[in-house]
Amino acid sequence: MGIIKDCIRKKSVNEIPVWFMRQAGRYLPEFRKIRLKNNDFINLCLNPNLSKEITLQPLKRFELDAAIIFSDILLIPYALDQEVKFEKNFGPKLGEINTNKMLEMPDAYVLDKLNPVYQLIEKTKKDEILNNKDLIGFVGGTWTLLVYMLNRQSPKKLNKNIFSYPNQKKIIEKILSIQKLHIKKQIESGASIIQIFDSWAGLLTDDKLDEYIYQPTFELVEYTRSLGVEIICFPRCIKSYEKYCDIVKPDAISIDYDVDPKKIAKNIDIPIQGGLDPKYLLLDKNEMLKNAKKYLEIFKNHNYIFNLGHGIMPETKPENVKTLIDFVKDF
Ligand code: CP3
Repeated sequence: MGIIKDCIRKKSVNEIPVWFMRQAGRYLPEFRKIRLKNNDFINLCLNPNLSKEITLQPLKRFELDAAIIFSDILLIPYALDQEVKFEKNFGPKLGEINTNKMLEMPDAYVLDKLNPVYQLIEKTKKDEILNNKDLIGFVGGTWTLLVYMLNRQSPKKLNKNIFSYPNQKKIIEKILSIQKLHIKKQIESGASIIQIFDSWAGLLTDDKLDEYIYQPTFELVEYTRSLGVEIICFPRCIKSYEKYCDIVKPDAISIDYDVDPKKIAKNIDIPIQGGLDPKYLLLDKNEMLKNAKKYLEIFKNHNYIFNLGHGIMPETKPENVKTLIDFVKDF
């Protein structure tokens, strides 16, 4: 068990824990090398040997405190037999959903398709590089998955048809039940923390938050907690992180780069993660460190996990990631 878990459990820690969203990915030449030979992204995620290797790549280079499994939130629609493709410079493209078939899909069938993820976790857990560090498993937020499944590509803005989609409530229930299974299996396989990526939380107006975000996420939080594992929530660009924390009660909250960290520090007393704009990793090192310092200072009286406000960008130089980690560890 690692220092991220300690930090979330509000134990005192001697150093600031650090990991990054998308710490495994295209900014690493060793990832690009594997990716070039594996054109199909989903198949790559479902190859336990390669996905384990990719999961551990950033830990071989940097002093990170956790590994996050190399996988994707869209494996859930994939496992529900919705086609998922990734097109260059476009992002994900999903096929049509066959609602009736999907609603009746047996759990065993879905879990069988997701089984390579659990193999990846088991294999990674055994690797000595991981040592006692945390292994983070994840799911997409129920809302974010619904958006991808019904909109079938990344939304530029909110598509109102989602709210009147036939059988929408039943689809949400199905997603939620598969999310729970997926969380449980990840934990049984060795994930020590779960993070919920609700990347499109910011699209919703206040009147929709209860139904699409608060209720399903609270259910996932309670469920994960009942399994004895900590849960970090990342409701990206949500209007009020304060209200979200009051209602959803995650063990830790991950913040985006638009929200004012001072306001968060003042109003939220659970452990906080992230915030720094990943664009700072593309700029001048001094500028990057100045901004990292800002977050470290603001959260110095909080249990704070250093991370970014969104994933590392593909254009990032690995040496900047190293500089940043060294800076945080010396702070
Ligand atoms: O963070 C990590 O290192 C773990 C792996 C991880 C990936 N996706 C790998 C990935 C995680 C945690 C995710 C989560 C994910 N996937 C989210 C939530 C976080 C966020 O970014 O908002 C979302 C919305 C997705 C869906 C998804 N997958 C998109 C929109 C894309 C394409 C965008 C892009 O960056 O090209 C992906 C593909 C994807 N998932 C890549 C990686 C490393 C890039 C694949 C490639 O090599 O082309």
